[in-house]
Amino acid sequence: MIKIGDKVFNTRVFLAPLAGCSDLPFRLICREQGLQMAFFEMLSSDALVRKRKKTLSMLKSVPGDRPVAGQLLGSDPHLMLDAAMKMKERAEVEFIDINAACPVRKVVNNGQGAALFKTPEKLFSIIKILALKAGIPVTVKLRTGFDKSDTKALVNMVMGCEDAGLSAVFLHGRTRAQMYGGGVDYSAIKTAKENLNIPLFASGNILSATLAKKMFDETGCDGIIVARGAMGNPWIFKDINGFLKNGKLSPSPDKKQRIAVLKRHLSYIRKYSELPPSTVIGLMRKAALWYLKDFAGASSARGKVTPAQSYEELLTLLDKL
Ligand SMILES: Cc1cc2nc3c(=O)[nH]c(=O)nc-3n(C[C@H](O)[C@H](O)[C@H](O)COP(=O)(O)O)c2cc1C
Repeated sequence: MIKIGDKVFNTRVFLAPLAGCSDLPFRLICREQGLQMAFFEMLSSDALVRKRKKTLSMLKSVPGDRPVAGQLLGSDPHLMLDAAMKMKERAEVEFIDINAACPVRKVVNNGQGAALFKTPEKLFSIIKILALKAGIPVTVKLRTGFDKSDTKALVNMVMGCEDAGLSAVFLHGRTRAQMYGGGVDYSAIKTAKENLNIPLFASGNILSATLAKKMFDETGCDGIIVARGAMGNPWIFKDINGFLKNGKLSPSPDKKQRIAVLKRHLSYIRKYSELPPSTVIGLMRKAALWYLKDFAGASSARGKVTPAQSYEELLTLLDKL
């Protein structure tokens, strides 16, 4: 059991916020395979306040998709408070996370995402206003540094966030410069954890049950968030939960199981996506490529689905496999 502010969670393993990926179909598929707590995709505070249709559609949910948390990108405390209130109006979120980790150049050049690591006072003022006025626990997603791993700055950062009223830290064990590659700095995560009284969730290379356990063992973190490890592999949640409980590893799903779950994932995209048809078929092809791996003939199967132009065409191709 972990408490984030006044919210209690019966799991230590969450699905990470994943722009363009952690949508309703993906969350539902993961929940069917053992996921208990998920994030929506990251939302731009500005787009949410302006009620952009695409942004609002990202908050789509169904009763089976609970509990869930939201994440906001932004740098203006008042605009972010406005966005947090709008998010609360539209979705039943357990807490709201501030993205201080996104490494994308356009975002960073705007002073948002990972750029907030370089402007701690600005981040603290966002946390303060949200923690005081949003009426919901506030968390932050950080990296271990900007250009290079900087444990001293990281410790000052997490302690300052806690003092500002934060309820939990989500920490990706890579710097902004590393983007999504290179090693994970377990020791920086451990040091951050040792300097906090609020829960710390670790992120980075949680690609299997054994790597999940390694994260807990090496950092002493309270929880973990699974990101790329869940793409085309929603079974990872059951695997991790089972391995942490009884030390037993589950067998990998075979081709038949992969294709069956992929088909269900595609049916959820068809059912729930409110995006234009050309975008929807792109999402379907992306999901298909995630699942068609780790079996004989997977590479040729991927080549066949890449040009597919419709849901029906994809299903016919999958049935032939
Ligand atoms: C496609 C993609 C989208 C992501 N989107 C977000 C996001 O919107 N917000 C966020 O805080 N992190 C985002 N991340 C970072 C992940 O949440 C996670 O911290 C990172 O991928 C490290 O974990 P991993 O090595 O297990 O994938 C994203 C990562 C990927 C690969």
